[in-house]
Amino acid sequence: MQFVEKNGARVPQLGLGTWELRGDVCAKMVAEALKLGYRHIDTAEMYGNEEAVGEGIRASRVARDQIFVTTKVWFTHLERGPLLQAAKESLARLKLDYVDLYLIHWPNKLVPLAETIGALNEVKERGLAKNIGVANFTVTLVREAAKLSKAKIVNNQIEMHPYLDQSKVIAECNKQGMSVTAYSPIVKGAAVQDKTLQKIGAAHKRTAAQVSLRFLVQQGIIVIPRTSKPERLSENAAIFDFELSNEEIKAIHALAVPDGRRINPSWAPDWD
Ligand SMILES: NC(=O)c1ccc[n+]([C@@H]2O[C@H](COP(=O)([O-])OP(=O)(O)OC[C@H]3O[C@@H](n4cnc5c(N)ncnc54)[C@H](OP(=O)(O)O)[C@@H]3O)[C@@H](O)[C@H]2O)c1
Repeated sequence: MQFVEKNGARVPQLGLGTWELRGDVCAKMVAEALKLGYRHIDTAEMYGNEEAVGEGIRASRVARDQIFVTTKVWFTHLERGPLLQAAKESLARLKLDYVDLYLIHWPNKLVPLAETIGALNEVKERGLAKNIGVANFTVTLVREAAKLSKAKIVNNQIEMHPYLDQSKVIAECNKQGMSVTAYSPIVKGAAVQDKTLQKIGAAHKRTAAQVSLRFLVQQGIIVIPRTSKPERLSENAAIFDFELSNEEIKAIHALAVPDGRRINPSWAPDWD
Protein backbone atom coordinates (compact mmCIF):
# COMPACT_ATOMS: atom_id res chain seq x y z
CA MET A 1 0.00 0.00 0.00
CA GLN A 2 1.26 3.47 -0.88
CA PHE A 3 0.80 6.38 1.50
CA VAL A 4 0.48 10.13 1.08
CA GLU A 5 2.20 12.02 3.91
CA LYS A 6 1.18 15.67 4.33
CA ASN A 7 0.92 17.95 7.36
CA GLY A 8 1.85 15.08 9.67
CA ALA A 9 -0.82 12.63 8.50
CA ARG A 10 0.06 9.39 6.72
CA VAL A 11 -2.93 8.40 4.59
CA PRO A 12 -3.18 5.15 2.60
CA GLN A 13 -3.53 6.36 -0.99
CA LEU A 14 -6.34 3.93 -1.76
CA GLY A 15 -9.48 3.74 0.34
CA LEU A 16 -12.95 2.23 0.02
CA GLY A 17 -15.76 4.77 -0.41
CA THR A 18 -18.99 3.69 1.26
CA TRP A 19 -21.63 6.23 0.24
CA GLU A 20 -24.88 4.36 -0.52
CA LEU A 21 -23.54 1.06 0.86
CA ARG A 22 -25.84 -0.05 3.64
CA GLY A 23 -26.29 -2.80 6.21
CA ASP A 24 -24.93 -6.26 5.40
CA VAL A 25 -23.60 -5.27 1.95
CA CYS A 26 -21.64 -2.43 3.54
CA ALA A 27 -20.25 -4.57 6.37
CA LYS A 28 -19.31 -7.31 3.90
CA MET A 29 -17.59 -4.93 1.47
CA VAL A 30 -15.60 -3.26 4.26
CA ALA A 31 -14.46 -6.63 5.65
CA GLU A 32 -13.64 -7.95 2.15
CA ALA A 33 -11.69 -4.80 1.24
CA LEU A 34 -9.62 -4.97 4.44
CA LYS A 35 -8.89 -8.68 3.88
CA LEU A 36 -7.70 -7.82 0.35
CA GLY A 37 -5.27 -5.20 1.67
CA TYR A 38 -7.28 -1.97 1.64
CA ARG A 39 -6.28 0.03 4.73
CA HIS A 40 -8.50 3.11 4.44
CA ILE A 41 -12.29 3.34 4.77
CA ASP A 42 -14.32 6.49 4.06
CA THR A 43 -17.69 7.00 5.73
CA ALA A 44 -19.79 9.91 7.07
CA GLU A 45 -22.54 10.48 9.60
CA MET A 46 -24.80 11.32 6.63
CA TYR A 47 -24.26 7.93 4.94
CA GLY A 48 -26.25 6.13 7.65
CA ASN A 49 -23.77 3.24 7.57
CA GLU A 50 -21.28 3.86 10.37
CA GLU A 51 -22.60 0.87 12.38
CA ALA A 52 -22.09 -1.37 9.34
CA VAL A 53 -18.62 0.08 8.67
CA GLY A 54 -17.67 -0.69 12.29
CA GLU A 55 -19.05 -4.20 11.93
CA GLY A 56 -16.99 -4.75 8.76
CA ILE A 57 -13.84 -3.51 10.47
CA ARG A 58 -14.34 -5.92 13.37
CA ALA A 59 -15.21 -8.83 11.05
CA SER A 60 -11.99 -8.27 9.03
CA ARG A 61 -9.82 -9.04 12.09
CA VAL A 62 -7.31 -6.46 10.82
CA ALA A 63 -5.75 -4.62 13.78
CA ARG A 64 -7.32 -1.22 14.44
CA ASP A 65 -3.98 0.59 14.24
CA GLN A 66 -3.45 -0.73 10.72
CA ILE A 67 -6.66 0.89 9.41
CA PHE A 68 -7.25 4.53 8.50
CA VAL A 69 -10.89 5.44 9.18
CA THR A 70 -12.37 8.72 7.98
CA THR A 71 -15.78 10.05 8.94
CA LYS A 72 -17.46 13.42 8.42
CA VAL A 73 -19.73 15.80 10.27
CA TRP A 74 -22.82 16.89 8.32
CA PHE A 75 -23.14 20.60 7.47
CA THR A 76 -26.13 21.12 9.77
CA HIS A 77 -23.96 20.26 12.80
CA LEU A 78 -21.20 22.83 12.46
CA GLU A 79 -21.79 24.88 15.63
CA ARG A 80 -19.54 23.87 18.54
CA GLY A 81 -22.04 21.84 20.60
CA PRO A 82 -23.61 19.89 17.73
CA LEU A 83 -20.20 19.18 16.17
CA LEU A 84 -18.75 17.71 19.37
CA GLN A 85 -21.93 15.69 19.84
CA ALA A 86 -21.81 14.45 16.22
CA ALA A 87 -18.20 13.29 16.64
CA LYS A 88 -19.10 11.31 19.79
CA GLU A 89 -22.15 9.79 18.11
CA SER A 90 -20.13 8.72 15.05
CA LEU A 91 -17.60 6.96 17.30
CA ALA A 92 -20.41 5.25 19.22
CA ARG A 93 -21.94 3.96 15.97
CA LEU A 94 -18.54 2.82 14.64
CA LYS A 95 -17.71 1.36 18.09
CA LEU A 96 -14.29 2.99 17.84
CA ASP A 97 -12.34 5.11 20.34
CA TYR A 98 -11.05 7.43 17.62
CA VAL A 99 -11.15 8.04 13.90
CA ASP A 100 -7.99 8.75 11.93
CA LEU A 101 -9.53 11.70 10.12
CA TYR A 102 -12.57 13.82 10.95
CA LEU A 103 -13.82 16.03 8.10
CA ILE A 104 -16.29 18.88 7.74
CA HIS A 105 -18.48 17.26 5.04
CA TRP A 106 -19.58 20.56 3.44
CA PRO A 107 -19.00 24.19 4.45
CA ASN A 108 -22.02 26.12 5.78
CA LYS A 109 -22.24 29.87 5.15
CA LEU A 110 -24.63 30.28 8.09
CA VAL A 111 -22.07 29.20 10.73
CA PRO A 112 -18.87 31.22 11.30
CA LEU A 113 -15.95 29.13 10.07
CA ALA A 114 -13.94 30.15 13.16
CA GLU A 115 -16.50 28.41 15.42
CA THR A 116 -16.48 25.22 13.33
CA ILE A 117 -12.70 25.07 13.07
CA GLY A 118 -12.42 25.70 16.82
CA ALA A 119 -14.75 22.77 17.51
CA LEU A 120 -12.88 20.58 15.04
CA ASN A 121 -9.66 21.33 16.96
CA GLU A 122 -11.42 20.31 20.18
CA VAL A 123 -12.33 16.96 18.60
CA LYS A 124 -8.64 16.37 17.97
CA GLU A 125 -7.54 17.69 21.40
CA ARG A 126 -9.99 15.30 23.11
CA GLY A 127 -8.45 12.39 21.17
CA LEU A 128 -11.64 11.62 19.24
CA ALA A 129 -9.75 12.10 15.95
CA LYS A 130 -6.05 11.74 15.15
CA ASN A 131 -6.31 14.30 12.33
CA ILE A 132 -8.77 16.92 11.14
CA GLY A 133 -9.71 18.07 7.66
CA VAL A 134 -12.32 19.51 5.35
CA ALA A 135 -14.30 18.50 2.27
CA ASN A 136 -15.75 20.47 -0.59
CA PHE A 137 -13.67 23.50 0.43
CA THR A 138 -12.76 26.07 -2.25
CA VAL A 139 -9.48 28.02 -2.54
CA THR A 140 -10.74 30.80 -0.24
CA LEU A 141 -12.19 28.39 2.31
CA VAL A 142 -9.02 26.26 2.38
CA ARG A 143 -6.95 29.38 3.01
CA GLU A 144 -9.29 30.62 5.77
CA ALA A 145 -9.51 27.21 7.45
CA ALA A 146 -5.71 26.86 7.50
CA LYS A 147 -5.37 30.32 9.01
CA LEU A 148 -8.02 29.70 11.69
CA SER A 149 -6.84 26.27 12.83
CA LYS A 150 -4.43 25.59 15.68
CA ALA A 151 -3.76 22.04 14.52
CA LYS A 152 -2.83 21.40 10.89
CA ILE A 153 -5.74 20.84 8.53
CA VAL A 154 -4.40 17.73 6.85
CA ASN A 155 -6.76 17.04 3.96
CA ASN A 156 -9.41 18.42 1.59
CA GLN A 157 -11.77 15.81 0.10
CA ILE A 158 -13.15 17.06 -3.22
CA GLU A 159 -14.81 15.75 -6.35
CA MET A 160 -12.04 14.88 -8.76
CA HIS A 161 -11.86 12.80 -11.94
CA PRO A 162 -10.90 13.22 -15.62
CA TYR A 163 -13.95 15.39 -16.43
CA LEU A 164 -13.33 18.02 -13.72
CA ASP A 165 -10.38 20.40 -13.56
CA GLN A 166 -9.55 21.00 -9.89
CA SER A 167 -6.10 22.54 -10.43
CA LYS A 168 -6.87 25.81 -8.57
CA VAL A 169 -7.95 24.23 -5.29
CA ILE A 170 -5.21 21.59 -5.51
CA ALA A 171 -2.60 24.36 -5.87
CA GLU A 172 -3.93 25.99 -2.67
CA CYS A 173 -3.94 22.66 -0.80
CA ASN A 174 -0.31 22.13 -1.88
CA LYS A 175 0.55 25.60 -0.64
CA GLN A 176 -0.98 24.76 2.76
CA GLY A 177 0.79 21.37 2.88
CA MET A 178 -2.56 19.51 2.76
CA SER A 179 -3.27 16.28 0.92
CA VAL A 180 -6.20 15.96 -1.47
CA THR A 181 -8.63 13.07 -1.62
CA ALA A 182 -10.61 12.53 -4.84
CA TYR A 183 -14.23 11.55 -4.36
CA SER A 184 -16.23 10.12 -7.29
CA PRO A 185 -12.83 9.14 -8.77
CA ILE A 186 -14.42 6.98 -11.46
CA VAL A 187 -17.14 9.56 -12.19
CA LYS A 188 -19.73 7.51 -10.29
CA GLY A 189 -19.09 4.65 -12.72
CA ALA A 190 -19.26 6.74 -15.93
CA ALA A 191 -15.49 6.53 -16.54
CA VAL A 192 -16.06 2.97 -17.71
CA GLN A 193 -17.84 4.16 -20.90
CA ASP A 194 -15.19 6.71 -21.85
CA LYS A 195 -13.53 5.87 -25.20
CA THR A 196 -10.24 7.66 -24.41
CA LEU A 197 -9.89 5.93 -21.03
CA GLN A 198 -10.78 2.59 -22.64
CA LYS A 199 -8.16 3.07 -25.35
CA ILE A 200 -5.44 4.03 -22.89
CA GLY A 201 -6.49 1.12 -20.70
CA ALA A 202 -6.22 -1.34 -23.59
CA ALA A 203 -2.59 -0.27 -24.16
CA HIS A 204 -1.81 -1.24 -20.53
CA LYS A 205 -4.21 -4.22 -20.36
CA ARG A 206 -6.26 -2.32 -17.78
CA THR A 207 -9.86 -1.15 -17.57
CA ALA A 208 -11.06 2.43 -18.03
CA ALA A 209 -11.89 2.53 -14.29
CA GLN A 210 -8.29 1.63 -13.45
CA VAL A 211 -7.00 4.34 -15.80
CA SER A 212 -9.25 6.94 -14.15
CA LEU A 213 -7.85 5.94 -10.72
CA ARG A 214 -4.24 5.71 -11.92
CA PHE A 215 -4.51 9.20 -13.47
CA LEU A 216 -5.29 10.52 -9.96
CA VAL A 217 -2.79 8.51 -7.89
CA GLN A 218 -0.01 9.37 -10.33
CA GLN A 219 -0.63 13.03 -9.39
CA GLY A 220 -0.26 12.26 -5.66
CA ILE A 221 -4.02 12.26 -5.04
CA ILE A 222 -5.70 9.85 -2.59
CA VAL A 223 -8.61 7.90 -4.16
CA ILE A 224 -11.67 6.34 -2.50
CA PRO A 225 -13.62 4.44 -5.18
CA ARG A 226 -16.83 2.81 -4.02
CA THR A 227 -18.15 -0.54 -5.15
CA SER A 228 -20.80 -2.96 -3.95
CA LYS A 229 -19.25 -5.80 -5.96
CA PRO A 230 -16.49 -7.86 -4.31
CA GLU A 231 -14.83 -8.67 -7.68
CA ARG A 232 -14.35 -4.94 -8.37
CA LEU A 233 -12.39 -4.41 -5.13
CA SER A 234 -9.27 -6.04 -6.57
CA GLU A 235 -9.76 -4.33 -9.94
CA ASN A 236 -9.87 -0.93 -8.26
CA ALA A 237 -6.83 -1.77 -6.14
CA ALA A 238 -4.62 -2.82 -9.08
CA ILE A 239 -3.49 0.72 -9.85
CA PHE A 240 0.00 0.83 -8.36
CA ASP A 241 1.83 -1.45 -10.80
CA PHE A 242 1.57 0.41 -14.09
CA GLU A 243 2.40 3.91 -15.24
CA LEU A 244 0.69 6.33 -17.63
CA SER A 245 2.96 8.25 -19.98
CA ASN A 246 3.05 12.07 -20.02
CA GLU A 247 1.13 12.00 -23.32
CA GLU A 248 -1.55 9.77 -21.79
CA ILE A 249 -1.85 12.05 -18.74
CA LYS A 250 -2.18 15.02 -21.10
CA ALA A 251 -4.90 13.28 -23.12
CA ILE A 252 -6.84 12.54 -19.93
CA HIS A 253 -6.53 16.13 -18.70
CA ALA A 254 -8.02 17.19 -22.05
CA LEU A 255 -11.26 15.35 -21.13
CA ALA A 256 -12.11 18.01 -18.52
CA VAL A 257 -15.25 20.01 -19.36
CA PRO A 258 -16.78 23.14 -17.74
CA ASP A 259 -19.86 21.22 -16.54
CA GLY A 260 -17.86 18.18 -15.44
CA ARG A 261 -19.02 18.42 -11.83
CA ARG A 262 -21.40 15.58 -10.85
CA ILE A 263 -22.10 16.59 -7.24
CA ASN A 264 -23.51 20.07 -6.82
CA PRO A 265 -26.21 20.29 -4.14
CA SER A 266 -28.08 23.49 -3.22
CA TRP A 267 -25.83 24.00 -0.17
CA ALA A 268 -22.59 23.84 -2.22
CA PRO A 269 -20.17 26.78 -1.89
CA ASP A 270 -19.40 29.16 -4.79
CA TRP A 271 -16.99 26.88 -6.65
CA ASP A 272 -13.61 28.19 -7.87
N1 LIG B 1 -17.16 14.45 0.61
C1 LIG B 1 -18.21 14.35 -0.18
O1 LIG B 1 -19.02 15.28 -0.27
C2 LIG B 1 -18.39 13.12 -1.01
C3 LIG B 1 -19.27 13.14 -2.10
C4 LIG B 1 -19.38 12.00 -2.86
C5 LIG B 1 -18.65 10.85 -2.56
N2 LIG B 1 -17.82 10.85 -1.47
C6 LIG B 1 -17.03 9.64 -1.10
O2 LIG B 1 -16.32 9.19 -2.25
C7 LIG B 1 -16.67 7.83 -2.51
C8 LIG B 1 -16.56 7.54 -4.00
O3 LIG B 1 -17.38 8.39 -4.77
P1 LIG B 1 -18.77 7.92 -5.42
O4 LIG B 1 -19.35 6.80 -4.64
O5 LIG B 1 -19.58 9.15 -5.61
O6 LIG B 1 -18.37 7.46 -6.90
P2 LIG B 1 -17.29 6.51 -7.59
O7 LIG B 1 -16.47 5.80 -6.61
O8 LIG B 1 -16.63 7.34 -8.65
O9 LIG B 1 -18.22 5.49 -8.37
C9 LIG B 1 -19.01 4.53 -7.74
C10 LIG B 1 -19.84 3.83 -8.81
O10 LIG B 1 -18.97 3.20 -9.75
C11 LIG B 1 -19.26 1.81 -9.86
N3 LIG B 1 -17.95 1.12 -9.95
C12 LIG B 1 -17.01 0.99 -8.98
N4 LIG B 1 -15.93 0.34 -9.43
C13 LIG B 1 -16.18 0.02 -10.72
C14 LIG B 1 -15.44 -0.65 -11.73
N5 LIG B 1 -14.23 -1.12 -11.49
N6 LIG B 1 -16.03 -0.79 -12.96
C15 LIG B 1 -17.25 -0.30 -13.21
N7 LIG B 1 -18.00 0.36 -12.31
C16 LIG B 1 -17.47 0.52 -11.07
C17 LIG B 1 -20.03 1.45 -8.63
O11 LIG B 1 -21.00 0.49 -8.94
P3 LIG B 1 -20.99 -1.01 -8.26
O12 LIG B 1 -21.35 -0.81 -6.84
O13 LIG B 1 -22.02 -1.70 -9.07
O14 LIG B 1 -19.60 -1.53 -8.44
C18 LIG B 1 -20.74 2.76 -8.27
O15 LIG B 1 -21.97 2.88 -8.95
C19 LIG B 1 -18.07 7.71 -1.92
O16 LIG B 1 -18.49 6.39 -1.78
C20 LIG B 1 -17.89 8.48 -0.63
O17 LIG B 1 -17.22 7.66 0.32
C21 LIG B 1 -17.67 11.98 -0.71
